Amino acid sequence: MIVVPGPAAQSLGQKVAEVLNAKTVEVKLKLFPDGEYALRFEGDLKGEDVVIVQTTGQPQDTNVMQLLLMLDAAKDLGAKKVTAVVPYLAFARQDKRFLVGEAISGETLVKLIEACGIDQFITVNIHAENTLKKFNIPTQNLSAITTLAQHFKDQGLEGAFALSPDKGAIEIAEEASKVLGGGCGWLKKERDRYTGEIQVEEKSLDVKGRDVIVFDDIISTGGTIARAVKMLKSQGAKRVYTACVHALLIGEAKNKIMESGAEEIVGTDSLPTSLKTVSLAHLIAKALSR
Ligand code: R5P
Repeated sequence: MIVVPGPAAQSLGQKVAEVLNAKTVEVKLKLFPDGEYALRFEGDLKGEDVVIVQTTGQPQDTNVMQLLLMLDAAKDLGAKKVTAVVPYLAFARQDKRFLVGEAISGETLVKLIEACGIDQFITVNIHAENTLKKFNIPTQNLSAITTLAQHFKDQGLEGAFALSPDKGAIEIAEEASKVLGGGCGWLKKERDRYTGEIQVEEKSLDVKGRDVIVFDDIISTGGTIARAVKMLKSQGAKRVYTACVHALLIGEAKNKIMESGAEEIVGTDSLPTSLKTVSLAHLIAKALSR
């Protein structure tokens, strides 16, 4: 097996290769004055089982384009099998037409990836799993929640209450609760599809004097998590920790969450981030060994 750490996932790709004890092939980008680039594999992929690791956070368009170029070129260069490992899949939150006339961007991305002729697609906590149903090739949607919860357990937070700030993500809190053993719950959130503003419904939770960890798949502006933390603190929670798989952390998100009363924000290396992270390398390596 050959692992290719893509330009946007250098560190994670290297770690996956280390865990698997696999060879790596580097990718070189030659930039042109108009902003275009030529992408080149610095090693032979012919006849190989090739794993391309590339994440697609900001700048999404560039990272997606580089992903497509790598997948298509790997097949074209004669790789026997190509697996795309895309821990964070851009546009996956647009999994349906929320407003009349919208593009279903997640589906478009799936079509483009599949058109490159790859053999398998692996991602982590995709926002809406139905997006993966559009693939005709085998897919795996890994979950980093057990790994994140284990991190907190190792830090002495066994028995903490696990909360999902959105009822749609209750399975996240349930998964964390299996590790932490302190029960779980959820909040109800509504997003205005025109303004993007969110409303979190006030809900009474049994958290007085308890440690709570709020888990979400994505932290973007931090608004969702910050509101959840404030609600928990106002209901007498002792310490509130926050965790996410994909730390987009746009603008003041980090400050917003810390100022809401959180003790800490923990993420993963699905995206480059300044947060404390747990690595997805072992989770991905295990999936690749199946
Ligand atoms: C959406 O439903 C996701 O699960 C997250 O809750 C959302 O992306 C978080 O966004 P923000 O950090 O901007 O509130």
